[in-house]
Amino acid sequence: MMQSLKDRMSREEAFGIWDKYLKTNYLRLHTLESEAIMRKLATKLGEDAELWGNTALLHDLDMDILEGDYQQHGAKTVELLKSEGFEIPQMFQAIKAHCEGVSQTGVKRETKFDFILAGAENLTGIISAYVALKPDKKIDGTKSSSIRKKLKTPAFAASVNREFIALAIEASGLDENSFLSLAIEAFEEIATEIGM
Ligand SMILES: [Fe+2]
Repeated sequence: MMQSLKDRMSREEAFGIWDKYLKTNYLRLHTLESEAIMRKLATKLGEDAELWGNTALLHDLDMDILEGDYQQHGAKTVELLKSEGFEIPQMFQAIKAHCEGVSQTGVKRETKFDFILAGAENLTGIISAYVALKPDKKIDGTKSSSIRKKLKTPAFAASVNREFIALAIEASGLDENSFLSLAIEAFEEIATEIGM
């Protein structure tokens, strides 16, 4: 008899899968940062923090396996998660849609969750690049106004999709300052883990 796929995932299960597939340090840091932001936002917005956090932790799960082949990005992650025994529609949709326009999944962002994931994971790029240039390289003392300034400077961390971030903020219903402040707080909470 086929074992049925689980529609819920614990943080422990998510972490085990993450640790099994994601080996590149940069990707591990990026996904931990994405998770921290999504958990924080979900809690603030009264959403499912476990779902949002786990999805963010796993959203780039296929990146080491695909070795830069973005065509299957997202779709491959869903395949891996199914092979691990999970079938979580909201998670799979958000993961496939986070790389809308980049991968060939053809899946578009639809829900608030989809839009916020796509923006939050891009925002990690701005914050981490900003911190890397600080003399102390610590998240501590980072102001939302500084991050805002970098967002408005297209040449800074140029690969970060500013439009995705703007749409995420809009979808959250929060003002830009609150959204950025929550993201900075999320980084502060995992500062030791991410070496900041
Ligand atoms: Fe990502």
